Amino acid sequence: MPVQRILIQLDCDPQASSFDAIVAIDAGAEVLLQHGGVTPDSAVPLVHGAMFTRGGSGLASTAIFIGGSDMQVAELVYDRVRATFFGPVRVSVMLDPAGANTTASAAVVAAARHLPLGDPELASGCQALVLGGTGPVGQRVARLLAGKGVAVGVASRSLERAKAVCERIAAAVPEARLEAIATVDVSLAGSAFGTAIEKADLIVSAGAAGTVMLDAAGRLLASRARVLIDLNAVPPAGVDGIVSADKSQQSGGAIVYGALGIGSIKIKIHRTAISRLFESNSLCLDAEALLAIGETLA
Ligand SMILES: NC(=O)c1ccc[n+]([C@@H]2O[C@H](COP(=O)([O-])OP(=O)(O)OC[C@H]3O[C@@H](n4cnc5c(N)ncnc54)[C@H](OP(=O)(O)O)[C@@H]3O)[C@@H](O)[C@H]2O)c1
Repeated sequence: MPVQRILIQLDCDPQASSFDAIVAIDAGAEVLLQHGGVTPDSAVPLVHGAMFTRGGSGLASTAIFIGGSDMQVAELVYDRVRATFFGPVRVSVMLDPAGANTTASAAVVAAARHLPLGDPELASGCQALVLGGTGPVGQRVARLLAGKGVAVGVASRSLERAKAVCERIAAAVPEARLEAIATVDVSLAGSAFGTAIEKADLIVSAGAAGTVMLDAAGRLLASRARVLIDLNAVPPAGVDGIVSADKSQQSGGAIVYGALGIGSIKIKIHRTAISRLFESNSLCLDAEALLAIGETLA
């Protein structure tokens, strides 16, 4: 009897994401086992179920996907899942809470079409600003760019939250060059926020859905930016003048991408990653591995 490709969806939210489920099925998962409200402790017996049923080459036909809206909880589940494996008794696993890893990878793949992110020396001369840098997506965009050698400003309404994200990224990417930036109670002119906009070669807007992160005045200040990316699909636009469907569109002096323009790259990365999970039993796909997949598709 052929062994079916089973994906175990471990979601930290009470209800497992239907988006992740549909992408999984479209990517070739034949059976989906969905679990909501998953914690690091409750994940362990579910992982044992994956480890101890199909031996040898059959293990590659079972895989685990970890999602949910809370990046930190999902990361803890991811760590516990990998710590539960031993020796060759393991299955492939992918971490993509709130679509953060695949979306951030797609944004970096898009930016790399126009900026020298593949060359560490040239990338180190690039300056990026991530608006909404404390959300799951923004955090991952900042981490991936920092890993490329880019100097990254992490913007938030709260300097403390931005600093906490910078510390988490620095723990994962010790060579990261990061600056925490507050966006409220500051005027654009002369503030750290205004300066960060002015000097950015790349601005990625990863604010909450339907939130204006860079208005017309902010956009005017972004005269150096060669690439502007707005990940928000819900009106009004996160960045003044960008529409969702923009994909490598010239707008003023910059190339712009909107949420749907990035979304099509994201879906490709997500589907390819799910199908790769079933090619071996030892893949661990976090942001950097998903970006590497995206770079092969670019
Ligand atoms: N295009 C795609 O394929 C795709 C896929 C997934 C997600 N997305 C989009 O990507 C964006 C980021 O997703 P996410 O889950 O990381 O977002 P999120 O957690 O909902 O929000 C990100 C950050 O936005 C800031 N924020 C929230 N409300 C705000 C307000 N009223 N004014 C200013 N800032 C505000 C918050 O930072 P502070 O509180 O620290 O300021 C928050 O951490 C969303 O727009 C989402 O819809 C797009």
